[in-house]
Amino acid sequence: MANSINTSGTDTYVGTAHSRVDGPAKVTGQAKYAGEFSAPDLAHGYVVSSAIARGRITALDTAAAEAVPGVLKVLTHENRPRTAWLDYNYQDQVAPPGSPFRALYDDKVHYSGQPVALVVAEDFDTARHAASLVKVAYEAETPNTDLAALQDQAYVPPKKRSGIKPPPEPWGDAVGAYEAAPIKLDGRYHMAVEHHNPMEPHASTVVWEGDGKITVYDKIQGVSNSLGYIIGVFGMKKDDVHVMSPYLGGGFGSGLRPQYQLFLAVMAARDLERSVRVTLTRDQMFSFGYRPDVRQTVSLGAGEDGALQSIRHEAISGTSNFEDYQEVVVNWSGVLYDCPNVALDYRLAKIDTYTPSDMRAPGAVTGVFALEVAMDELAHATGQDPIALRLRNYAEKDRTQDKPFSSKSLRAAYEQGAERFGWAGRDPEPRSMRDGRELVGWGMATGIWESMMQQSSAQATLTADGKLVIGNQTSDIGTGTYTILTQIAADALGLRIEDVTTKLGDSKLADAPIAGGSWTAASSGTAVMKACREIAAQVFTLARRLDDSPLANVDFERVVFKDGHISVAGDPSRSIAIAEVLKAGGMDKIEATGSAGPDSNHSQSFAGYTHSAVFVEVKVDEDLGVVRVTRVVSAIAAGKILNTKTARSQILGGVVMGIGSALEEESMLDHTLGRFMNHNLGEYHVPVHADIHDIDVIFVDEEDKANPMGVKGLGEIGIVGTAAAVANAVFHATGKRIRELPITIDKIL
Ligand code: MOS
Repeated sequence: MANSINTSGTDTYVGTAHSRVDGPAKVTGQAKYAGEFSAPDLAHGYVVSSAIARGRITALDTAAAEAVPGVLKVLTHENRPRTAWLDYNYQDQVAPPGSPFRALYDDKVHYSGQPVALVVAEDFDTARHAASLVKVAYEAETPNTDLAALQDQAYVPPKKRSGIKPPPEPWGDAVGAYEAAPIKLDGRYHMAVEHHNPMEPHASTVVWEGDGKITVYDKIQGVSNSLGYIIGVFGMKKDDVHVMSPYLGGGFGSGLRPQYQLFLAVMAARDLERSVRVTLTRDQMFSFGYRPDVRQTVSLGAGEDGALQSIRHEAISGTSNFEDYQEVVVNWSGVLYDCPNVALDYRLAKIDTYTPSDMRAPGAVTGVFALEVAMDELAHATGQDPIALRLRNYAEKDRTQDKPFSSKSLRAAYEQGAERFGWAGRDPEPRSMRDGRELVGWGMATGIWESMMQQSSAQATLTADGKLVIGNQTSDIGTGTYTILTQIAADALGLRIEDVTTKLGDSKLADAPIAGGSWTAASSGTAVMKACREIAAQVFTLARRLDDSPLANVDFERVVFKDGHISVAGDPSRSIAIAEVLKAGGMDKIEATGSAGPDSNHSQSFAGYTHSAVFVEVKVDEDLGVVRVTRVVSAIAAGKILNTKTARSQILGGVVMGIGSALEEESMLDHTLGRFMNHNLGEYHVPVHADIHDIDVIFVDEEDKANPMGVKGLGEIGIVGTAAAVANAVFHATGKRIRELPITIDKIL
């Protein structure tokens, strides 16, 4: 059997639908989140946010706030400790090129909602009340937040953002081939700005340990990023800072970068020499990163048979005035389909908001939406079935990198998804299918995301009672990381899953990157497997040295770890309990670390991607303009699936977010005020239970060799393509081609 975790090739837990090992802690309230940790001397900070989007603060009057009983201090740029912002240029692990936002740095206002003061009080309600008494006078300038009006100022980013591939050089002659093509399509596409809105708002609790030492509980997708930030910005010693983030109530990318509440809480704790918690309100969740506004043009030239002759994909993305945020928007159009003439262009334009940030499958959600709606338009224009069109243009290699795919089971995803959905029964004619007074539409789209690994390590400790503890710094952002790592470790050493404990989100554990990019399972999973294999090797060595060892004269390759025992393969009589080996060998414990990272030989030769085929049924009430997504089948090709239950949950969550993009989510900027106006869940709509109907997830078989487990990662692929499939289904239902998301009632009527 390929890619098994256990050396004997028999996995007990990996590949099964094991429930979350952290589930009981979460549903009984024992799992604690950043804003729930406490200390006897805990004070509470409340943020005062800027009322203008651009300009400067001319006066601050904090007297009334300071006079409120229980208020400890009001911190502003005028009185903040000078030790804050020791390193003016500190850039966190995923910072785009530029000058990171610095809270309470000076009198300048860069965006609406920028923190301008922190009120610290004995309790939260006092801090909140006092914050309402802080008077801020501004000299306001006219903000520029309308990307559409700034397109002429768009520029190619002068510096590349780390980890982000710029568009490849064009190949062929995309303009000439377009002009010559018998079928020409040219469309402008747009999706709204979105804010992440995880269930848990951002919070940091800083526990003052005395002697300048702090323990920080932060909402972050990787404690290493918060640790580096605190050390860099405050000039603290590494040993004086302990960061923990054991649980997150969702992140979606909003927790990749340290946010300003972390800075404010650490600054206040150091200044007051006591513990401080700063929790952002739901409104304030709209005062930092978001999925950017991107204006796109896709032009397709094709033969009458639908064979692509030319693809041009241009995108202009908004960024802030202080950082050049970049994501991969257009490159997918050079990867997904085989086309001899391709030109891709990606530019930025500066607007007066906070810097955009990665939001689940950043760039792909946006770019693949445009491409996959354009492909549906081409299918319609050439009278072809949308799947047949995609198969006609199926890419056998990644032309953007000039490499073959490490593995690509997209064809199987199309086939199995179509079969499950019943696609063959589709009447291709728009407006041809009905259910009572509702129009029915069936649409599909392709999804793609990069399959990546990051350098990661893990530690493992096996004790004489036969129990194993593993861990590293990475966070489980709700994806199931605790569970899959526990499964991997249990299988690697043949232990019962109950005998394995996984610790995550602690800066004292083995180094690991932030949890993002769908790389956690492959990176930390491989590191855990290697740490456990190292323990296995040590157990074996110890066992073979014992008097009358049942493993005498046996090679490591011939032993099996199963049911808490180490045995000779094919000879179960020659076996000894692992706990017994440690006891007899006089060992309390065996410790090991493992590390893993991208295999450069493999990645030089192959391009790694996950793929999906998404099928959607919508029902549209034309009188009311209401679209319901009544059925989704998402067929995923993402290498080995470690846990079919948590993996399915990841895809379900991605599909739900995709439905949100398609029909509901929209952060609306008022360009006069330069402010996101619907900064609450009453007016920023996300799908609720009533919006979600049948979602069926298929994992197609796919063997990959980028890492020993064959894992590709799937936190992000579930969202990609989903909104396009909805938009294509809406076209099929109504005959209306809507190229702007979300597809709200006004666009249907
Ligand atoms: Mo993801 S947007 O890398 O959390």
